[in-house]
Amino acid sequence: MTRLHEVPALRAWRHAQWQEKRRVALVPTMGNLHRGHLALLDSAREHADVLIASIFVNPLQFGPNEDFDRYPRTLEADVAALEAAGCHAVFAPSERTLYPHGRDIAQIHVPHLGDHLCGADRPGHFDGVTTVVGLLFHLVQPDVAVFGRKDYQQLQLIRRMVRDLHFPTQVIGHPIEREADGLALSSRNQYLSAEERARAPALHVTLRAIAEALSGGKRDTAALEADAMERLRAAGLVPSYVRILSADLQEPEFPGEILIAAAAYLGQTRLIDNLMVHV
Ligand code: PAJ
Repeated sequence: MTRLHEVPALRAWRHAQWQEKRRVALVPTMGNLHRGHLALLDSAREHADVLIASIFVNPLQFGPNEDFDRYPRTLEADVAALEAAGCHAVFAPSERTLYPHGRDIAQIHVPHLGDHLCGADRPGHFDGVTTVVGLLFHLVQPDVAVFGRKDYQQLQLIRRMVRDLHFPTQVIGHPIEREADGLALSSRNQYLSAEERARAPALHVTLRAIAEALSGGKRDTAALEADAMERLRAAGLVPSYVRILSADLQEPEFPGEILIAAAAYLGQTRLIDNLMVHV
């Protein structure tokens, strides 16, 4: 696997792929890779000849009181995992390499879509995400890029950015990878104490209960959301939101593709999850 840390080396690598007429798929990550990240490579492989992952803990997308400093950085283990999973290259720039002029730089802002859900909780977060993903797309020039549906709002924002800015990149959404008890895999799960970890599946269980209620014909979404918030509190979580929306994050329309999304704190740890149902 080719290790790339600097922009000129990345550009030379990309150029070689063009010369060989190979389709390139990018899988952007912040490292500390788990099975959920590595599964994205499987979707990438279906659409391209060569796979490149990026590893960069992006300071622009963390709020001042968030976990940027303690976010787990495990580069050597990540590189080994990518290699074992058949990834062809990894781009792991330093902050100095990606942002040589500091953090007060031009940003990509997608209007409206990031104002609610996680965006309401985390001001500036999605501008940081679209800025770094736009920058990575600009540097890597991928034919395809794969993102997890766990971060559903992030995926929608990136699709909108690609549409609006004419990026020549096809964006693929990969299904949520879960633990056996339903908890969505996340780098942040390792922050959970044993007692918190035991409570964590309540998030997924609550989303499933809403899905069943919708499938059973219930349509009072405000009441279902309020019940679910109560259920999460009873399980010892502090919910930020539970929302029932259309697949494009608007008010739901029945029948149709419905997104059920939630975020909740378990101690200091912020967990998110979602389900799609057709009702
Ligand atoms: P990170 O949290 O490292 O996630 C990298 C990618 O892995 C994202 O597309 C995310 O949705 C996906 N992913 C994480 N857990 C998953 C799971 N359980 N199932 C399926 N996919 C999962 O998301 C980011 O990094 C950053 O915001 C990034 C896009 C890299 C920009 O900095």
